[in-house]
Amino acid sequence: MKRVLSGVKPSGEQTHIGNYFGMLLPSVELQKTHENFIFIADYHAMTTVFDGERLSSQARELMVELLAVGLDPQKTVLFRQSDVPEVCELTWILSCSTPLGLLERAHAFKDSKAKGQEVIAGLFNYPVLMAADILAYRSHCVPVGQDQKQHIEIARDIAQRFNRTYGDILVLPEPLIKEDTATVIGLDGRKMSKSYDNTIMLFEPEKSMKKKVMSIVTDSKGLNDPKDPKTCSVFALHELFNPDGLEELSARYLGGSIGYGESKKLLFEKMMETLGPVRSRWEELHTRFDEVEEIYREGAKRARAEARKVLDDCRQATGMAMGK
Ligand code: ADP
Ligand code: TRP
Repeated sequence: MKRVLSGVKPSGEQTHIGNYFGMLLPSVELQKTHENFIFIADYHAMTTVFDGERLSSQARELMVELLAVGLDPQKTVLFRQSDVPEVCELTWILSCSTPLGLLERAHAFKDSKAKGQEVIAGLFNYPVLMAADILAYRSHCVPVGQDQKQHIEIARDIAQRFNRTYGDILVLPEPLIKEDTATVIGLDGRKMSKSYDNTIMLFEPEKSMKKKVMSIVTDSKGLNDPKDPKTCSVFALHELFNPDGLEELSARYLGGSIGYGESKKLLFEKMMETLGPVRSRWEELHTRFDEVEEIYREGAKRARAEARKVLDDCRQATGMAMGK
């Protein structure tokens, strides 16, 4: 059975619908047919969250959200990245097979530098830690949104270089990016992202969700003007929540028989319909943090055992003392 793995950072607000369609929903499907590993990337979140208590409580909340969307600890190895310190050692080993230029081309580093921000070494090394995450579990395939594609390519590149030097030890991963959900659009028409403040959260109260949907930016075409579905952010979200109604809606857009207000109201209804079951599961689960502790413990055991094997192979190949 092929192994798939993905991670999500506990770096702020809750899970948004970009995360949901881009990565979580594909992972929920994949757990039925693949060996699935999903983790909370708290080491990665350290590059932006500098409050320990906040970070650990965000990680717990995120774990509850992963359960609510349907990831099942019986089918998926669910764990917290920092419970597997082996990845940090692997990060060092891999960093010795990583040319500086590869990291200098990483989007997050380049963006941060272009904005004149002080770049911490953790942000610069972020892709090497991510390579270690992927390679430590011999993952064949990594379901992610489009924004993570470069990171998977870097992981692949690092693995290839390592294997060229030390033998065929690491599995080369492939990104799995679904075309129709590669980049979910946010309220302002840009990619939905925590860092752009344009998100709709999966579990936010109905009232604020509605307010956000009604605030999606559109052009200023009047009620009866013909409208272009291809350039409308509201329509782009209908593609996710209202697939059966698209044909009719598209005809109404083109024929000028629907205003943006009505389209948004319809979208909100479809959203509540689609997300209803996941939202009520979250209502049930969201204070059961003792279960999270149990999942951390169990997930860590299984994940560590896997990572240890790869780390030992890499230690052996690179001539490091084998700690037995
Ligand atoms: P954010 O970009 O909001 O900080 P994360 O970095 O935690 O979100 O992303 C977790 C996963 O969700 C990644 O696989 C990422 O590619 C995916 N993802 C994030 N935003 C989107 C989006 N707008 N469309 C599709 N996938 C997304
Ligand atoms: N960098 C990813 C993000 O921002 C999170 C992540 C960390 C990840 N390690 C990973 C995703 C390994 C896939 C595989 O969303």
